[in-house]
Amino acid sequence: MEHFFATCPRGLEAQLAGELDMAGAVRIEAVAGGVGFAGSWESCYRANLWSRIATRILWRVAHGPYQREEDIYRLAHDVPWHKRFAVRRTLRVYMTAIRSPLRSLDFITLRIKDAVCDRFRAETGERPSVDTAEPNVRIHAFLSDREATLYLDTSGEPLYKRGFKYASVEAPLKENLAAGILMLAGWQPGTPLLDPMCGSGTFLLEAALIAHDIAPGLARKFGFFRLDNFDAALWQKLLTEAEARKQPFVAQPIFGSDISQDQVERARQNLAAAGMHECVRLERADLLQRSPPAADGVLVANPPYGIRLEEQEWLAAFYPRLGDALKQRFAGWRCYFISADPQLPKQIGLKASRRTPLFNGALECRLLEYRIIAGPMRRKAG
Ligand SMILES: C[S@@+](CC[C@H](N)C(=O)[O-])C[C@H]1O[C@@H](n2cnc3c(N)ncnc32)[C@H](O)[C@@H]1O
Repeated sequence: MEHFFATCPRGLEAQLAGELDMAGAVRIEAVAGGVGFAGSWESCYRANLWSRIATRILWRVAHGPYQREEDIYRLAHDVPWHKRFAVRRTLRVYMTAIRSPLRSLDFITLRIKDAVCDRFRAETGERPSVDTAEPNVRIHAFLSDREATLYLDTSGEPLYKRGFKYASVEAPLKENLAAGILMLAGWQPGTPLLDPMCGSGTFLLEAALIAHDIAPGLARKFGFFRLDNFDAALWQKLLTEAEARKQPFVAQPIFGSDISQDQVERARQNLAAAGMHECVRLERADLLQRSPPAADGVLVANPPYGIRLEEQEWLAAFYPRLGDALKQRFAGWRCYFISADPQLPKQIGLKASRRTPLFNGALECRLLEYRIIAGPMRRKAG
């Protein structure tokens, strides 16, 4: 039994805990920003392959109290790194600290790197080199006020990089946050789903993957491939199992539109990269004009952010029109907007039935739920 820690966007810990349970994890314990668990390597591989919510799965390799920098050096030096990965692998140390009394986190990061290299040199006569851009092996250190934990990253690139998407620009919405929003919305395959501001199509692709029971990690590489204990036969078994679970591609009631033809094209390319462009219906449309694609369903959207002043002014005029459009045409739909803009709930003119705090990276957002019912609705700031 090993100990792991899975990180995730804050606000999705309960959903991640559920996924880890499905992956065979035990002693599951959610904290802000992640979930600790114990389990076999099979549960770790499974979590990497199947979790739609996790950002990374970290393997705990050392844990202990500290007071000074040198305590952390010693903790790191005690780990038999030469039995964990080959000296030819490049590495990088990442640091997260909450209320650590130590002055320089950069210095501790350096000391951990020194400890790893010193231990390698003592055992093998050689030391691994550092690569800060694309390391083969990532070591994460977490410091609380009194305790230090060291982890080896079993994921490598963050898990929200599914490996399908090929439009290289970063999506404004990470894939794991999009998948988490679909879960919070209670969307189930078969229920009509519309993203009327689809941009690069993150919600649509996540929904299509869920609808076809496709493991989100099926097309990518993982950090654990580079660890000495990598069990290729076990991994192959999990891949074969995941291939067998894949449902045949059929058209789904999943709909996407955007006011920008360029964005519609981008979404089409991203869906095509995953082979799913024929499962999702895409069109260019203004949300303020379009009609719903079904009598009822779930609408999810990530409206533009109001960062610049002219955008804020534009949004202030847009929100009441959005509320009116929903009231007039989307009766029967449950609508979810993820936004960091406090003006949205104030100006949309609908009463939110639920507000869930969620973090998009460091940006604090709300997932706002509006249940649109038929007939005249009272205009009320929610
Ligand atoms: C923040 S982006 C959405 C990003 C998207 N979630 C993704 O994964 O890439 C907002 C999108 O809303 C679109 N948009 C703005 N006004 C719109 C309107 N009236 N109707 C439809 N789409 C609109 C923009 O073109 C932009 O693509």
